Amino acid sequence: MCGIVGCIGKKEAQPYLISGLHRLEYRGYDSAGIVTISNDNKATLLRAKGKVSSLESLIGKNTSKDTIGIGHTRWATHGEPSETNAHPHQSGNVYLVHNGIIENYKELKTSLKDHVFKSQTDTEVLAALVNSFYNNDTELVDAVTQALQLVVGTYGIAVVSARNPDEIIVARSGSPLIIGIGDDETYIASDASALIGYTTQAIYLNDGEIAVCRRDGVKLRDLAAQPISAQVETIEIDMQAIQKQGYDHFLLKEICEQPVTLRSTLSGRVNVEDELVKLGGLNLTVEEIRDIEHVTIIGCGTAYYAGLLGSYYLEQLVDGLTVDVAMASELRYRSFHLPKKTVALVISQSGETADTLACLRELKRRGVKTLGIIIAVGSTIAREVDGGVYVHAGPEISVASTKAFTSQAVTITMFGVQIAQAKGSGAKDVAKFIKELDQLPNEIEAVINNYKDRIADLAKRYAHYEHAIFFGRDTLYPVALEGALKLKEISYIQAEGFAAGELKHGPIALVDDTFFEVALILDNWLFDKSLSGLAEVNARGGHIIAITNSKKQIDAEEVLVIDTKLDLLAPLVLNVAQQLFAYYVTVAKGFDVDQPRNLAKSVTVE
Ligand code: M6R
Repeated sequence: MCGIVGCIGKKEAQPYLISGLHRLEYRGYDSAGIVTISNDNKATLLRAKGKVSSLESLIGKNTSKDTIGIGHTRWATHGEPSETNAHPHQSGNVYLVHNGIIENYKELKTSLKDHVFKSQTDTEVLAALVNSFYNNDTELVDAVTQALQLVVGTYGIAVVSARNPDEIIVARSGSPLIIGIGDDETYIASDASALIGYTTQAIYLNDGEIAVCRRDGVKLRDLAAQPISAQVETIEIDMQAIQKQGYDHFLLKEICEQPVTLRSTLSGRVNVEDELVKLGGLNLTVEEIRDIEHVTIIGCGTAYYAGLLGSYYLEQLVDGLTVDVAMASELRYRSFHLPKKTVALVISQSGETADTLACLRELKRRGVKTLGIIIAVGSTIAREVDGGVYVHAGPEISVASTKAFTSQAVTITMFGVQIAQAKGSGAKDVAKFIKELDQLPNEIEAVINNYKDRIADLAKRYAHYEHAIFFGRDTLYPVALEGALKLKEISYIQAEGFAAGELKHGPIALVDDTFFEVALILDNWLFDKSLSGLAEVNARGGHIIAITNSKKQIDAEEVLVIDTKLDLLAPLVLNVAQQLFAYYVTVAKGFDVDQPRNLAKSVTVE
């Protein structure tokens, strides 16, 4: 949430700051700002409400040749989106950008009598606090350290001083920060994507660390001012992965690249000929895998729904395995109890989601073995889990998550196969799952190639509705939840997902002409039961779009028959049709597909 950039070197800072902010814009787009410092101690502060493009339009009249600067793109927590609340915040010579939340900002504010507060933000309090310790005899890093010792909350910060154009101070506690090492240049970013094309060498700051970034290098220390040695790592994201590559939107690109990303997820892990699955990185012996009796899955939003779908597959795959799934935002405050021989699967695209991270830390504190199923390489969760799997789906830029869902659900399924094989149980289904995993990328490719136009046409005709209900049974229940989330978050149509069997317990009361319904139906042992739910909605004047793999008669306003040879994994194929549907509805409504209102990609605050 929010994006931070910074640079200090020999080249002009503004171009990097703007390019970095564009790349991080998906982390928040309520306002943006930059400050650069000249060699003769003048600060050029530019801030604008709205997207980075609004900030960029200010540069024309305010071009600076300064070679040091910091920038920020904001997702509002304290204070409305406005220029006044935009970062950087200034106090005296100090300019500061911040991700996270300073929980005790009100208390701190009362002690800062010398500063006239202009914004409603917690960040301005932190800037004023740093400035209160920053007198003529103090180094900026010491003032920052003293201020942070008083702070309760989470932060990733970058600080510059008009008095000193030779260093940027950065610090982290709970909000990611990466320092890129270039040739006589040092870069700062809250996400590796802002560093691509500038450097491949980076230091991932840990919680409690402060860094002094200079043109010729970086020095790390802790909050007690003790030096720490830095570990430089290589960033392995290529430029192509963060570009639209000819697509109109990142969302469409990310939906359409699923066959490719899924092949990467499966590559080297599923061996169809030998009917084997092997995930590297679990850090579990075969005996430890065989001994697993309980799997608990945690995540938020789409990651949670991928976990929910994965839980159905784990139950099908492994006889006697107990599986539960929890929303991380709920679990973290519950008095939950976990049996012995539990393994926790921590699902996250960004690897930075605050609620998921908090759960992970609590699970670790209780001695539970934690495994990550993560996309973002080097992210905090990926670094803190005991073991796990990178899903190799490449960066997701669009705020709405699509390819992550598919690859995460598939990875949980692979994990299930591995447990089943270690335990020697469920041999029949294991073979079928392996075969379908192998076929899945081609089946998804076929949906994209063969149904895109039909779905676009359908979407245009249903885009005028105000409300939508998605429903499905069994493995299609999580898919219904995900379909509703996708539609609501980008098209703003109020959409809810339900287990089909639950409709008659309340939700069916909603059905009227302002609603349409998406009925997800598989041609399996639940087909007739699914038709009963559909009939009940039809009887009340529903406007149903049925999405199914069945060629049997289905009575609905529209029936989208997806021709697939898959059975167990067909829900993932139907889900791609839903993703395309949400995309085309949003395009038809003319909304911002990749950066929907009020949202940000990586939710690093509570
Ligand atoms: O990065 P994570 O996977 O941990 O993110 C979890 C959710 O914030 C995320 O899936 C969110 O629900 C997306 N906007 C859904 O499209």
